[in-house]
Amino acid sequence: MVEKRRIGDSPIEIAPLALGGNVFRWTADETTSFAILDAFVDAGGTMIDTADVYSAWVPGNQGGESESVIGRWLKRNPEKRDKVVIATKVGFMAGLKPETIGPACDASLQRLGIDTIDLYYQHKDDESVPLADSLGVFDDLVKAGKIREIGLSQFTAPRLREAMQTAAANGLHKPCCLQTWYNMVERGKLEGELRDTALGYGLGIFPFYSLANGFLTGKYRNKADLDKSPRGLRNIAYLEGRGQHVLDALDAVSGETGEPLATVALAWTMAQPGITAALASATSLDQLAELTAAIDLKLSAGQMSRLDAASVEVEPAIPG
Ligand SMILES: NC(=O)c1ccc[n+]([C@@H]2O[C@H](COP(=O)([O-])OP(=O)(O)OC[C@H]3O[C@@H](n4cnc5c(N)ncnc54)[C@H](OP(=O)(O)O)[C@@H]3O)[C@@H](O)[C@H]2O)c1
Repeated sequence: MVEKRRIGDSPIEIAPLALGGNVFRWTADETTSFAILDAFVDAGGTMIDTADVYSAWVPGNQGGESESVIGRWLKRNPEKRDKVVIATKVGFMAGLKPETIGPACDASLQRLGIDTIDLYYQHKDDESVPLADSLGVFDDLVKAGKIREIGLSQFTAPRLREAMQTAAANGLHKPCCLQTWYNMVERGKLEGELRDTALGYGLGIFPFYSLANGFLTGKYRNKADLDKSPRGLRNIAYLEGRGQHVLDALDAVSGETGEPLATVALAWTMAQPGITAALASATSLDQLAELTAAIDLKLSAGQMSRLDAASVEVEPAIPG
């Protein structure tokens, strides 16, 4: 029986691993994407994460491709709609002007082929639009039954506070979660004020890049390895500094548990305070199996503390 976690104070409960959808029609073709989605559900996965902008960065794409893949998969497997929570996002490219959010939501619903988006995110903070206005439109979408819950992605701690206070002060449907960059080689992106703020408001936390773009699988050990994926170059900075210590610790725990590095890294992530589910993607069924294995892996206290020690971000000493 897969452990379920509630997303903040919303009624939605999910398994602690969410499948990242930015690979669909980027590094995973449609056939592979369908196979990954099927295998994810078969392994007890319950949440799929996408965005209207995925995967606009691929030459020839315009955004919406990932949602369309998920929509065609659901059309072939209508019985799976009730088994998955679908999260998507708006505003990455065009921002969050109130008049653009409703039409974007309708377009996402159409591509996904569903009546209601389970979790709809502000993809990134748009400081040019008053939060009362953008959250007001999200509230309207909840009342219209087009979305169930609201999420915030790529918000700083002060803006997260402002968003939560704005929702409360205006009687708007409250956001239930924060999606943010976080993994074993980039702990400082969440730990500290941002995590404290999210926890203070009872928000669920969804870390993206949980595998640091694949680095935490151990596939990138030197510069020659960066050719292994179209996203390999994103890993160049990890080859220096703390990255090697983290891989050494993952190698050791992998040796003890018999589980691959990706599985260990995700199990560590899922065990961090406030994490509702780690977000990670796969481009093959073999990769996916290493991700879903993390749902059942419980690391010992000793293994956790060694992984903590190798990954902790130490503040530089103040000279003098
Ligand atoms: N809110 C936001 O602004 C935001 C931003 C970024 C991402 N996200 C979400 O978070 C999700 C996760 O992030 P991500 O997919 O970009 O990065 P990630 O999960 O850190 O890295 C996943 C990639 O690592 C490689 N990989 C995975 N398992 C592997 C294994 N077992 N062995 C070897 N390689 C493996 C695969 O790429 P290759 O096969 O190509 O190496 C895979 O696509 C996204 O899909 C998206 O839904 C949200």
